[in-house]
Amino acid sequence: MKITGTGSASPSLTVSNEMLATFLDTSDEWIQTRTGIKTRQIISTEQLKDLAAEASIIAIDEAGIKAPDLDYIICSNTVNEYVTPALSCILQGMLGANCPCIDLNGACSGFIYALDMADALFKRGNMEHILVVCAEEPTRMVDWTRRDTSVLFGDGAGAVILSKGEGFKSFKLSTISNTEALYQIRKLQDSPFVKKEEEDGALVMKGQDVFKLAVNCSLSDIKEVLRLAGIKADDVDHYLLHQANMRIIDTVMRYMGQTKRNFPHNVERYGNTSSASIPMLLDELNKKRKLKTGQKMVFSAFGAGFTTGACMLEWTI
Ligand code: COA
Repeated sequence: MKITGTGSASPSLTVSNEMLATFLDTSDEWIQTRTGIKTRQIISTEQLKDLAAEASIIAIDEAGIKAPDLDYIICSNTVNEYVTPALSCILQGMLGANCPCIDLNGACSGFIYALDMADALFKRGNMEHILVVCAEEPTRMVDWTRRDTSVLFGDGAGAVILSKGEGFKSFKLSTISNTEALYQIRKLQDSPFVKKEEEDGALVMKGQDVFKLAVNCSLSDIKEVLRLAGIKADDVDHYLLHQANMRIIDTVMRYMGQTKRNFPHNVERYGNTSSASIPMLLDELNKKRKLKTGQKMVFSAFGAGFTTGACMLEWTI
């Protein structure tokens, strides 16, 4: 498969570090030094499905197809206002598509897992075009009285159209079961029959554990996709890493012996938008004409689970 269109959409409300410091014991200086984040976009008047639709329509237009041409919609989403139906099913109606739809919850690695699923569907042989859309609102998950998590996230959507072709060269996915480092629990609804002592909590994170897992797993995933594709670290024109934290991106970059030249980032403007972060950055680079046909790219992400994944591709637009 190859990428034939990209799209992205962000909510309208910009929240700066200074705005957070008006109600949290934090500062612009702390947030910038530890994470690189300056501002993030947060859902207020919008709904996540609107952002997902906007990103998808931009990608569909660029691919030169119509929504009914889609053979599958895979939506990477952790939470939205609906528990069911899946966001992809809601989106299908908004777009006017009529293909099968499924959501996957791979947390911040969801984009890579969705691409891997799409790759398998293409290999099955009866697909022409697949929409992968990552739509996330982690700001629905955090406790806004807690400075350790709420300053890190933003909302957004990023989409790609995948069409039959030769673009993707290698994938590496891994999962290490871990319910300690990053999790959120949903409480059981009490009934006349069952009462359980369960917490109904916000997102909990052990920041330093996540940091170490993120760096180690990203490095091994990236090295493996390079090995499988038969290329060297220096051959890659653009490394698009999950935009969670500038210090994680910089650490991986240094260990790979690379420079800022081929590690683009926008975490400073969007914060961590979970699985939407890589397709949002990809669309930004594409729309700014920073990507040239044939250039080599690596995507790499990590997230709750603990899920990680990377892939290597050649740019095909
Ligand atoms: N503002 C000011 N102080 C803060 C703060 C904030 N927003 N958040 C935490 N602190 C405080 C802590 O309470 C702690 O104070 P203490 O020493 O008095 O207890 C101190 O800062 C250091 O906390 P620590 O957790 O050790 O900081 P850190 O250097 O590890 O940085 C992260 C915290 C979260 C930025 C860092 O661990 C990280 O980036 N982890 C990865 C997170 C991530 O990417 N998550 C998404 C995965 S998809």
